[in-house]
Amino acid sequence: MEILGIDVGGTGIKSNIVNIESGTLTGEKFKLKTPAPSTPEAIIDCLKSTVENFNWTGKRIGIGFPAVIKNGISLTASNIDAKFINYNIDAEFSTALDCDVTVVNDADAAGIAEMTYGKGKGVQGMVIFITLGTGIGSAVFYNGQLLSNTELGHLKYKKSIFEKYASNYAREFHHLSWKKWAKELDIYLNHLNLILSPDLILIGGGVSKNFDLYKNYLNVPVKVDTASLLNDAGIVGAAMAAK
Ligand code: BGC
Repeated sequence: MEILGIDVGGTGIKSNIVNIESGTLTGEKFKLKTPAPSTPEAIIDCLKSTVENFNWTGKRIGIGFPAVIKNGISLTASNIDAKFINYNIDAEFSTALDCDVTVVNDADAAGIAEMTYGKGKGVQGMVIFITLGTGIGSAVFYNGQLLSNTELGHLKYKKSIFEKYASNYAREFHHLSWKKWAKELDIYLNHLNLILSPDLILIGGGVSKNFDLYKNYLNVPVKVDTASLLNDAGIVGAAMAAK
């Protein structure tokens, strides 16, 4: 079965048609810049262009979105317009796209894909999957079961929260060297290890492909690896959520 998967991020909106059985992308990836301001109207315009780009006539669309999503409602908005707080996201997107749209947290979506098709497959105990992008997203699994909407990027750190220091955006914004940025990431990973004692930490998001540039600066007493689906996990997992 093929489903259109869309990964809405704070910086870009990526999409592709996903073969749900194999977890592979079947078309050519389509990318748009996240509009500023990223209001519901502006995001819906991008979603419409995405549907048009793929000539999507299927009944279902899955979307990963950078917010806490409960019962079809987006409840938070850290890297997206505040109009998404308490927004009836499943229903509004479904009406706008004339399709059955399922929206889930972006990191949860990517984590599910990685646990099904990637390095998390079959791993027992606790796996923490984190995405390092505009923000820090998290998906926590225990014996393969997702504990949704964990928001571990929002743990308090210094004068703010960890995602302001250890996300890829923070690295770029503050012009940090890989070494300097990895120091913050290392503190973050050690903090996660302290409070949750995971068996495996998987890193996804755009910066996962640069792992060689910073892995030697990480000193965490638990296995840390990159997600094998790298930055595509969000698209694959979004489509899976709509299955
Ligand atoms: C949001 C999360 C999201 C993460 C990655 C955070 O700022 O609060 O919901 O998963 O960014 O996009």
